[in-house]
Amino acid sequence: MMMIGRNGGKLAAAGQRLFTTAALRGVSSGAAPLKTPWLLAGPARTVTVSWVRAPPIGLRNGSTLALGDRAEQPHRCDEKAASGAGSAGAGGEEKGIVSYWGVSPAKVAKEDGTEWKWHCFRPWETYEADLSIDLKKHHAPLTFLDRLAFWTVKAMRYPTDIFFQRRYGCRAMMLETVAAVPGMVGGMLLHCKSLRRFEHSGGWIKALLEEAENERMHLMTFMEVSNPRWYERALVFAVQGVFFNAYFLGYMVSPKFAHRVVGYLEEEAIHSYTEFLKELDNGNIENVPAPAIAIDYWRLPPGSTLRDVVMVVRADEAHHRDVNHFASDIRCQGRELKEAPAPIGYH
Ligand SMILES: [Fe+2]
Ligand SMILES: [Fe+2]
Repeated sequence: MMMIGRNGGKLAAAGQRLFTTAALRGVSSGAAPLKTPWLLAGPARTVTVSWVRAPPIGLRNGSTLALGDRAEQPHRCDEKAASGAGSAGAGGEEKGIVSYWGVSPAKVAKEDGTEWKWHCFRPWETYEADLSIDLKKHHAPLTFLDRLAFWTVKAMRYPTDIFFQRRYGCRAMMLETVAAVPGMVGGMLLHCKSLRRFEHSGGWIKALLEEAENERMHLMTFMEVSNPRWYERALVFAVQGVFFNAYFLGYMVSPKFAHRVVGYLEEEAIHSYTEFLKELDNGNIENVPAPAIAIDYWRLPPGSTLRDVVMVVRADEAHHRDVNHFASDIRCQGRELKEAPAPIGYH
């Protein structure tokens, strides 16, 4: 089965950037005009696929089949938006937004022809996590800066352990609010640097923004299974204010230190999710069904559970670990990030 995945290849579209997995079936290379049947509204458009590299496994769960269960799960934020924004057919309880600008999101259908419900991500942004990634890799701190980064992260972990104890669901949700910051800050600073210097970024802006988005999707997933209390929300507010500014300054002063810190943070995240899995396996945390958003985002099979979700999230963290240690290594060698092409397209 052919599909469009973010690690699936490069698509050049004429006029419209909307594709269907169905439309791309059978296209492996060469230019070919294709119709986009998943546009439910408006005239069919033609896109030209100049090149597609397809991963071996297709879009298993273009189905938002999981969305059929949505009434049984708490819904907030993006998921709420998904149901609300698509609410043309949702009973019309919510009032539409009045505007004469006429800008409406394109409707996208899944392979089975039903409407894709998520507005926070699209089918071509979904992927399958690389579960074979080495979870034990560790960057041994060699230089003073490495050791400073390592112990900075260890010091941050100490109060976290005391605060959350073994409440790993809550811990994961809260830590993802922090984990999504560095990629956005680093990407933003590289973006500004690219503008100032009139130069390319080597893909690193995109890679870091992808990391930030991926971390935010972790948060969107975990908030489906855990409810923050008021003081936890207040803590996130305060920590974000401090951490955003600290990381911003840190990245300005020393990108290699900033990336190394994130590399070690990700190593800690892998450890935390491993502990999470142990708690699930010994029954201390209930292995509830996977949230619908997770099933669609990671293309998990129907019937997946929280354990499956933690497995793919942990694999993501291992990827972030490698990317950030790699970025730090580049800077440690006195080179610019743009000199080594960024690993974009993993998520
Ligand atoms: Fe994460
Ligand atoms: Fe991460």
